[in-house]
Amino acid sequence: MKNIILAPSMLSANFNYLEKDIEMINNSDADWFHLDIMDGVFVPNISFGFPVVKHIKKLAKKPLDVHLMIVNPEKYITEWKNAGADILTVHYEACNHLHRTVQEIKNAGMKAGVSINPHTSVKLLEDILPELDLVLIMSVNPGFGGQSFIKQSLKKIKELREMANISNPSLIIEVDGGVDTKNYKEIVNAGADALVAGSAVFGSANPAETISKLKL
Ligand code: DX5
Ligand code: ZN
Repeated sequence: MKNIILAPSMLSANFNYLEKDIEMINNSDADWFHLDIMDGVFVPNISFGFPVVKHIKKLAKKPLDVHLMIVNPEKYITEWKNAGADILTVHYEACNHLHRTVQEIKNAGMKAGVSINPHTSVKLLEDILPELDLVLIMSVNPGFGGQSFIKQSLKKIKELREMANISNPSLIIEVDGGVDTKNYKEIVNAGADALVAGSAVFGSANPAETISKLKL
């Protein structure tokens, strides 16, 4: 199998001992820290914001992959850069001027990602695709960890891979939601380059071992 980027979602980490989980990821085979930012408006949940991201940045030895599930994400691009984001992903459904927002993310010195909800067709990304570093396909409805993978996502990953082969071969396709040790191979075979895993990693008896397994 190809070398997969594995990004554990800190949403499922133990926030009483956050430093311990950051250290575990630093010392594991994981590639990025996936940080889920929820505003209670775009999604029916609120997670954490700038202070927590800054705290993680101080201890993290791997890039921060920040997934914004917020309305008006264009308002805070510089702030996310200052907080330590290396990759900044906004939702297609939350942006009226997506092209401008993507340029602003890149101009701020971050890699730019766009995420799509389960109901959003990958076809809608055709004109923005050459501008992107990453597309994050949501394989659950965003808002919560621990949900089941929506099977239709596999078709979307394949379709996006075909589109990217033509207009942006170096695009990173990241898949987020319900990824576990049983389904990850099918997701990678469909064309994913990066996997987010929250409950599968932190809910397992040996998170570091599960991370290694998801990269095999
Ligand atoms: C959901 C988040 C995910 C979530 C994944 O809105 O974007 O990153 O934490 O969690 P699992 O892997 O448990 O589905
Ligand atoms: Zn996420």
